Amino acid sequence: MNMSNQAAHDKKLGKLHDGLDVSTFDRDHLWHPYSTMVERVPMLEVASAQGVRLQLKDGAELIDAMSSWWCAIHGYNHPHLNQALNHQIDQMSHVMFGGLTHRPAVKLGQQLLDVAPNELETVFFADSGSVSIEVAIKMAIQYWASQGRGSKNRLLTVRSGYHGDTTGAMSVCDPLTGMHHLFTNILPQHMFVEAPRCRFGEPCEAEDIHDFEAILREHAHEIAAVILEPIVQGAGGMRMYAAGYLSHVHELCKQHNVLLIFDEIATGFGRTGKYFACEHADVSPDIMCVGKALTGGYMTMAATMTTRQVADVLSTQGPGVFMHGPTFMANPLACAAASASLELLETNTWKTQIPQIEEILQRELNEAQSIRGVADVRVLGAIGVIELEAPVEMQAAQRISTDHGVWLRPFGKLIYTMPPYVITPEELRQVTKAMVSIANDQSKLV
Ligand SMILES: Cc1ncc(COP(=O)(O)O)c(C=O)c1O
Repeated sequence: MNMSNQAAHDKKLGKLHDGLDVSTFDRDHLWHPYSTMVERVPMLEVASAQGVRLQLKDGAELIDAMSSWWCAIHGYNHPHLNQALNHQIDQMSHVMFGGLTHRPAVKLGQQLLDVAPNELETVFFADSGSVSIEVAIKMAIQYWASQGRGSKNRLLTVRSGYHGDTTGAMSVCDPLTGMHHLFTNILPQHMFVEAPRCRFGEPCEAEDIHDFEAILREHAHEIAAVILEPIVQGAGGMRMYAAGYLSHVHELCKQHNVLLIFDEIATGFGRTGKYFACEHADVSPDIMCVGKALTGGYMTMAATMTTRQVADVLSTQGPGVFMHGPTFMANPLACAAASASLELLETNTWKTQIPQIEEILQRELNEAQSIRGVADVRVLGAIGVIELEAPVEMQAAQRISTDHGVWLRPFGKLIYTMPPYVITPEELRQVTKAMVSIANDQSKLV
């Protein structure tokens, strides 16, 4: 290190360790999701979390209406999840999964396959939702390549989808309204049809599936798989579409010899009122990704499940092995948290919690229909959405929601909640009040 480098380094160290002012250091040095490093609004500092509440450093408490981006379904600091992690940490926190195995992974694998659609028989543990999507895409492409059909290497999906932020995942997100259009030129080029127009609860008519069918028929020879978020398109617009659409897609994929991938990362584990959203249409994919609520929001973990047919082709043809293997694959702590979360779901309390949440959301958000500037209000399971005609003014929205003692994080034109399943009716009404107040406030801007 030369002298000027040394001086710069010392200056940086001095600055970095000059007391621990969290918000200043955070603002100057830490990236946040979809954030800037200049002129950033200060982040709220969370000191701890309990049940459905976040305790802020300044003593305020907020009901987390987002379940930390849809993961913390049982609430925070849950004794069963804490105990599972405490027990596991005394055994081992991590070992590599190459050449080794362990009980937490096997137990979780069994639990997952027990609840997954019957046809799914194998599990690949991944580190995050996006990685599980990469794995699913690679599996689909390798499936055909190893059978000598390398030209079947494109994906077909619908507009308004969101599947994650890594390169493969970005390539199947909405190419225009998604957050990744800057990268279009370096992404693999896949095929898109319009997002389903038939709404959840309505029939899917022939015209609704016509474009999808036409593209599939014409391009099946070059399509490895169709990838969809079943029933609810999450971060691409919180759209809820007809179960019939999914049934048609399932049938068409079989007919045209194309694999079907379901991304249940946002919808899995009860969120839409069924254990997995694909159960609304009673269809099963060839490959399915789960993540987010898998560990009850405790650890980062996801999984890609496949049929025996897909696994057999990957294992016996072409290279004879599936070409992916993350360092933290099947991390035992994450497996233990996920097992404990699935145990809580096994008690089936969610089956009464979700309809209750749905009913309150429907009743309390209904009044937003008549607010000027509101384009749509929709609810499914523990998902409640107020869609505005114009983008939400974020800073005002955030202020109103925290004034109501609620943590909401609107995006685009959407004010929405996906609360923890353990939220009480009273707490949920506090959330819906905040949402309606935001909509009312934004109507002044119309
Ligand atoms: C449907 C869906 N797929 C994939 C992802 C990506 O998951 P992760 O953020 O864990 O990488 C998300 C995240 O919001 C999602 O909603």
